[in-house]
Amino acid sequence: MTQTDKLDLSVQIGSLTLPNPVGVASGTFGYGEEYAPLLDVNTLGALYTKAVTLEPRAGNPAPRLADTPAGMLNSIGLANPGMEAFITDKLPFLRTLGCPVIVNVAGSTEDDYALVVERLGSEDGLGGYEINISCPNVAHGGMAFGTDPALVERLVKRLVSIRDRAPGAASRRPVIVKLSPNVTDIGLIARAAEAGGADALSCINTLVGMVIDTKRKRPVLARGTGGLSGPAVLPVGVAVVYKVSRAVAIPVIGLGGISCADDALQYLLAGAVAVQVGTAIFSRPETPLEVLGGIRDFMEREGVSEVRCIRELL
Ligand SMILES: Cc1cc2nc3c(=O)[nH]c(=O)nc-3n(C[C@H](O)[C@H](O)[C@H](O)COP(=O)(O)O)c2cc1C
Repeated sequence: MTQTDKLDLSVQIGSLTLPNPVGVASGTFGYGEEYAPLLDVNTLGALYTKAVTLEPRAGNPAPRLADTPAGMLNSIGLANPGMEAFITDKLPFLRTLGCPVIVNVAGSTEDDYALVVERLGSEDGLGGYEINISCPNVAHGGMAFGTDPALVERLVKRLVSIRDRAPGAASRRPVIVKLSPNVTDIGLIARAAEAGGADALSCINTLVGMVIDTKRKRPVLARGTGGLSGPAVLPVGVAVVYKVSRAVAIPVIGLGGISCADDALQYLLAGAVAVQVGTAIFSRPETPLEVLGGIRDFMEREGVSEVRCIRELL
């Protein structure tokens, strides 16, 4: 048996055990099928799907993407085929995967979120819900929920009680709340989600940004602003995870700007139990597997046998 075989990479998120801490972030990995030819999806710690909303959404008008010095700006606006098409067209493939699938849920109203979680409760093949209350690219809902602690607590409480009433194993699926960094005090929002009964938190979604085309003298994105992601947001995400993991007792999943193992290790040292790789996948789909390999190497080098103990090194 090699040293690597003795490493415990598993992560506990509520009742769900992730085989390893490296997942792929919502919106950067579609619904899995698109990337299956490019890397072994089964070796991921978790696959967080593109957002699913009650009704199909076309998203925002183009252009929806812009380059920035150390990342990208997007204003996709939660484009997705809607809940019923997700169930009929996407879920059958997702059910064949060997890694946990966590469905990212978004909405314009509290009822939207509630109806999606209720309907998905009768479908098998899902490991949990990631509740997106932090999308900066929609006019209604999204970030509007994620910036008000009272709304966050009420929404999470409602979704948790719907989850609890689901049949069988679906009643134990973790509810993970994805937080926005576009707030004054993220600790307040994190505690509100925890008070509502969230099993875990994901930090961070994108930061609001704008790129202006100086020749046209217009914003590059049709919507004006978009969400900044990629290396530029790494230090912001690490600082948020450091703060939030000390503000709550539930697990925190870190993401934002991870493009190598060292970036992921910063999150794990800051207090995250797991990480997600997002924008980096667009240029290098193999990044999540390289990140996992680098975490293993670090554990061997440092003599840490359980991934959950990395945070104790800080
Ligand atoms: C093109 C694109 C689409 C995204 N769509 C979603 C989404 O549907 N739901 C969500 O919660 N986050 C979405 N995000 C945010 C990412 O999941 C992640 O929080 C953010 O990009 C920061 O991580 P990164 O810097 O590694 O990309 C999207 C990001 C990008 C770049």
